[in-house]
Amino acid sequence: MTGSPNDCALHSYALRAIEMLYGAGATASIRRAALTVSQLQVYRICLLRAWRPWLIREVVEFMSFTRRQILGGLAGLVVVGVGAGGASRYWLGKMADAEAGHDYELIAAPLDVELVPGHKTEAWAFGPSAPGTELRVRQGEWLRVRFINHLPVATTIHWHGIRLPLEMDGVPYVSQLPVLPGEYFDYKFRVPDAGSYWYHPHVSSSEELGRGLVGPLIIEEREPTGFVYEKTLSLKNWHIDDVGNFVEFSIPREAARGGTAGRLSTINGVPLPVIELPAGQITRVRLLNLDNTLTYRINIPGVEARIYALDGNPVEPRPLGKEYWLGPGMRICLAIKAPAAGEELSLRNGPVRLGTLRSVANTDAPTDWPKALPANPVAEPDLANAEKLNFNFEWVGSVSVNVDNGRPPSLWQINGKAWDITDKTCADRPIASLKLGQSYIFELKNMTQYQHPIHLHGMSFKVIASNRHKIIPYFTDTYLLGKNERAQVALVADNPGVWMFHCHVIDHMETGLMAAIEVA
Ligand code: C2O
Ligand code: CU
Ligand code: CU
Repeated sequence: MTGSPNDCALHSYALRAIEMLYGAGATASIRRAALTVSQLQVYRICLLRAWRPWLIREVVEFMSFTRRQILGGLAGLVVVGVGAGGASRYWLGKMADAEAGHDYELIAAPLDVELVPGHKTEAWAFGPSAPGTELRVRQGEWLRVRFINHLPVATTIHWHGIRLPLEMDGVPYVSQLPVLPGEYFDYKFRVPDAGSYWYHPHVSSSEELGRGLVGPLIIEEREPTGFVYEKTLSLKNWHIDDVGNFVEFSIPREAARGGTAGRLSTINGVPLPVIELPAGQITRVRLLNLDNTLTYRINIPGVEARIYALDGNPVEPRPLGKEYWLGPGMRICLAIKAPAAGEELSLRNGPVRLGTLRSVANTDAPTDWPKALPANPVAEPDLANAEKLNFNFEWVGSVSVNVDNGRPPSLWQINGKAWDITDKTCADRPIASLKLGQSYIFELKNMTQYQHPIHLHGMSFKVIASNRHKIIPYFTDTYLLGKNERAQVALVADNPGVWMFHCHVIDHMETGLMAAIEVA
């Protein structure tokens, strides 16, 4: 491939962190140390909260420590939390299997797509399509992705819904530094849970996701599930005009309401596609909402369909029913029994058709509905001994609608605090600190007139109650909190780190509706 990255990217990554704090003059000694170590080609550094004043000392100490380990012939460390006065303030990650390479080389680059016939849209994509390459890996195994940034902007990849170590989580200035144009970053982690997940940047999200940087990530069950046929349908609505040019991804007036919606719906990047299903057979259909803003009210009139999983976690199979509200970031896994050959079903958002499911002739013997998918190994919260925490989601749009010097307005708050996406230090002030291993019940209170798909990084939570609907408890990473709804979700704080907790309506997130939750 062209523009192959080289080892310089590894230590330039560390150097950049130092330069951000001290300026270019301060890095001479670090530069020497970094060069020596990088020549050994045995580790890479992930700097968390890299602008900390004690950084240089820690980096130098870690480098000489690592070198001793290696020269001494010891097996590598996997992830080391290096304490700077007590609790780990950042993580230095080194791959135990540094020689093992990667499974995917994922390139983010500009890509012209044809969404409006006869016109081109200047999208950005992971691989040759937008939404991007479908990544697949088996549950319990490593996913190793060399991510190469050929975009004109800095970016990261966040692995939505995957329970992984913080330094792989893709949050800029919390997990890692942004990956600059021309740089690469190796993401490597084990995937504990089977199901439908997705990946996207966590930098300039309105624009980056809006232009197409979203993609499905499918974690296959360890054993065959009984499904023979399968389809992944990624839903996305594009912010383009009628000749395919991008329009604003976020407009303050809209961000202060339900979020800025796109205007052209697509499935797998195609408007109104025809999706073929084998007649008389049961197909596992994974519907992923990869849109910035839109909640799809999924319905398929006349269909014989059952829900098998919500947002990656299995549920006891049940009929799809009249309509399922799939908020931004959410997924639903259906089993659909296709009608006789030639018949068509309409996959809809409320009354609006998104695509057509067409039955095509098939001669295989029909099979029965597969049994429930095996549960993921998510820790069961201890409700009797759980500590309760309140999270209030508020609208403050009337207080400040400043659009000065390129800063987004502050429109939303969680517990009286707004996240400022231009402030790299927000994660230093977590909104809650959880004790590792302890169970918690989060009381989510929507005090606004708009719904918010509330998403937590790093851990799955169990939805246990709502004052608006009857809840059959289930594990998820994103809960669509309706207007004025109060819901309870519970979790075991079993993943140490600083985890983003935010609304997945992207322009809500970028105008305040985000916070950090610390687990230590
Ligand atoms: Cu899809 Cu911060 O998440
Ligand atoms: Cu996420
Ligand atoms: Cu929201």
